[in-house]
Amino acid sequence: MPTSGFALGVDFGTSNTVAVLRSPDGRARSLLVDGSPLLPSAVYADPGGNLLVGRDAIHSARLDPARFEPNPKRRIDDHSVLLGDRELPVVDLIAAVLIRVAEEARRTTGGAPLDPVTMTCPAGWGPTRRGTLCAAAALAGWPRVRLVEEPVAAATYFTNVLGRQVPVGSVIVVHDFGAGTFDVSVVAKAAQGFDVLAVDGRDDIGGLDIDAAIVTYLGRQFGSTPEWQRLSAPTTVEDRRNRRLLWDDVRAAKERLSRSQSADIPIAQLGTDAHLTREELETLARPVLEQTVRVTEGALRWAKLAEGRLAGVFLVGGASRTPLVATLLHRALGEPPLAIEQPELVVAEGSLYATSIAGTRRANTVLFERVAAAPVSAPPPGAPTSGGPLPVSVPPVPSPTSGAPARPISTPPAQQVSSPPARPVSPPPPPPVRSIPPQAVRVPPAPTLTAARPQPRPPAVQPRPAATYRPRPNVFLRSLRLAIIVATLIAVPVVTAYLAFHFAEGTPAWPLNLTW
Ligand SMILES: Nc1ncnc2c1ncn2[C@@H]1O[C@H](COP(=O)(O)OP(=O)(O)OP(=O)(O)O)[C@@H](O)[C@H]1O
Ligand SMILES: [Mg+2]
Repeated sequence: MPTSGFALGVDFGTSNTVAVLRSPDGRARSLLVDGSPLLPSAVYADPGGNLLVGRDAIHSARLDPARFEPNPKRRIDDHSVLLGDRELPVVDLIAAVLIRVAEEARRTTGGAPLDPVTMTCPAGWGPTRRGTLCAAAALAGWPRVRLVEEPVAAATYFTNVLGRQVPVGSVIVVHDFGAGTFDVSVVAKAAQGFDVLAVDGRDDIGGLDIDAAIVTYLGRQFGSTPEWQRLSAPTTVEDRRNRRLLWDDVRAAKERLSRSQSADIPIAQLGTDAHLTREELETLARPVLEQTVRVTEGALRWAKLAEGRLAGVFLVGGASRTPLVATLLHRALGEPPLAIEQPELVVAEGSLYATSIAGTRRANTVLFERVAAAPVSAPPPGAPTSGGPLPVSVPPVPSPTSGAPARPISTPPAQQVSSPPARPVSPPPPPPVRSIPPQAVRVPPAPTLTAARPQPRPPAVQPRPAATYRPRPNVFLRSLRLAIIVATLIAVPVVTAYLAFHFAEGTPAWPLNLTW
């Protein structure tokens, strides 16, 4: 294993890929690709057989949108993707993005070898998807990668990088809401490092679903026009281009509505602008956001926290900038969440410090090695990747990195220059009431063996404090229940008296029409 002292953490996201490089002196900084820390994960297959990535791909998409894949991560289950006239293995699309990162890393380090590159993946990914990611990494020149789950990386960022004071026994919740996936983790500070009490996620919930809800909403307004029908089922290059533009404008309007109260969405084909208010957006986004809250509550229920152990809720991922995310979470958990300036960067940097978690049996960090991979010298940026068949259906065998020591979270690494300052979303949380159990609660989570969602974990191997975390009661349901009880208490004696009266009088009792 090379020991140059350079370490690279890569978060291959649905919309954006982020890489953070840690130098031998311990300083970590974002790799800038085309001047930005966010490299769009988009890929464009040009007619010459080259794969363009990032902003180049987005610009080229206007030429022929059928050659463009904006979110290869969402295609991870497809063996191949049709781009223009070519069927391309998904692993090649992912590799093209990683090759761009590898290029930039090589340029920055002057070609020094990297310690095993760390890559992140959603908690809900099983071995097949993880294997595909690692196969792509091998094509990018990283035959050995350390794989860290995104929520674990995010939790590590808050403890190791931001150095948040989380007392032993207290718990933080990391709510990572990206473009295509949602992950939540419940992490407890232990004397040595921290324990992951629960990790859950949905790999089909993200900011893209809010974009889709807006497009559907516009379709309800304009769907009867032939122009809209061409936008929803494009058949020509121009229609596809217009559809792409519409989705871009919808996303931009959604993001603007996090800062302002209204936004206009130009729909050139209809010769009009659609007007969207934040209130309308929130109505559309609410079903998606409520799912994230439910998953978070479920993870907390699973973790069975004792009263007062919740020390903070942290927001990660670009879509968490939507103000309603913090509002709903605050309402449900009773804890004002905390966000940072650039929530997209958290996972990549946190992954550099995530190691095997002391005290749990969960292999949160796994070393993947492509034994069969031929030595790869990464092609130049944008060069066509090998179109040959890749063994994506046979994932590499994971081996836990048991040798990696757990990093105590109370010791932030030296000189973290890239850590944006934390800013409270709402008034800073009050100091939590500490209830420190004799030892951190440990849950052996289910091994991530399948691509399906994580199943409920088996019971804890050690006794845990009684469950005292309760989600806030639903006020409407409580009122409804009270109203039914009061109505029943009134109705029973009235009906009894009514029937008794008619019984005594011997008259028919309407509506039963009984005579006595
Ligand atoms: N100001 C904003 N308001 C609302 N949403 C935003 C804002 N800024 C960015 N987003 C959304 O955040 C998402 C991108 O976030 P991020 O880069 O964290 O995702 P990702 O890492 O690519 O995806 P994933 O983690 O799901 O694979 C996009 O859906 C984008 O529209
Ligand atoms: Mg992400």
